Amino acid sequence: MARLDVTETFHSFMFPGHMHTQDSLNYATNFKFQDTDTVIVTYPKSGTTWMQEIITLVLNKGNPTVAQTTPNWARAPWLEQCYATDILKASTGPRIITTHLPYHLLAPALQHSKAKVIYVARNPKDVSVSYYHFHKMANFLPDPGTFSDFLIDFLKGAVHYGSWFDHVKGWTSNKKDIQNFLYITYEEMCQDIQGSIQKVSHFLQCPLTEDELILSQKHCSFNSMKENAMVNYTLIPQEIMDHSKGKFMRNGKIGDWKNVFTEEQSRLADDVYSSQMADSSLLFKWE
Ligand code: A3P
Repeated sequence: MARLDVTETFHSFMFPGHMHTQDSLNYATNFKFQDTDTVIVTYPKSGTTWMQEIITLVLNKGNPTVAQTTPNWARAPWLEQCYATDILKASTGPRIITTHLPYHLLAPALQHSKAKVIYVARNPKDVSVSYYHFHKMANFLPDPGTFSDFLIDFLKGAVHYGSWFDHVKGWTSNKKDIQNFLYITYEEMCQDIQGSIQKVSHFLQCPLTEDELILSQKHCSFNSMKENAMVNYTLIPQEIMDHSKGKFMRNGKIGDWKNVFTEEQSRLADDVYSSQMADSSLLFKWE
């Protein structure tokens, strides 16, 4: 499947036509979750791949073999992408499932489920910068134009996968309806990776010894993942992801937005944030 220039619209949300079809999106929204499933939920560029790696390492007690031999999309497939059906049907053990879908599209499928849901959020300013660079290298996403143009679309939610604000609010304000829910931020993972791995291992009821924790930490570090072809997307053909235009494991830091945003853009993003998040009780600590 290529469909690099196709945009698939589903319930008014835009998805890349590459890997997403009406059938694959319907499959996702009608999915039968199992109680043993672990579901990673993110808005794009919020630390999805990092959480896939952390969970893989936790479930393997710090042993990196699976993380170093199986691509992330095969061990933690995106539910809404068309190849997920076959992988999930073939899977025998507890499944790790990834999704960028907004809450209201997945809520009916998750209702009454005991699946463990891990939501990772990241500062939208850093998400916008990371997403902009990703648009440049990912040939299945539209040309983002200038950062200034892209930021305006991002703040309006006029980008693939929709509004960051609606995504975060949708998932976090309805967390009481999800039986097993863990909320964590990219920033927390950067500032305290040991504590974050322990949080995940506790949530998954998969305790780690001190040595297993140290091994997990080592193999999910930015430098380790940058070199790991199973997560750095270098296995993807150049015509789909052009690595001459950027790296997937790009920067991996908190606050890169400060190197990109003008003061005016920062003020605009703050204003949109204040109005969009006025009805949210979430208190973010980005720095
Ligand atoms: P940057 O573009 O800011 O570097 P996703 O997996 O949701 O697409 O998110 C990708 C972002 O997570 C990229 O951000 C990437 O560098 C960052 N990332 C991935 N693994 C990381 C790690 N181990 N430590 C820090 N950041 C990581």
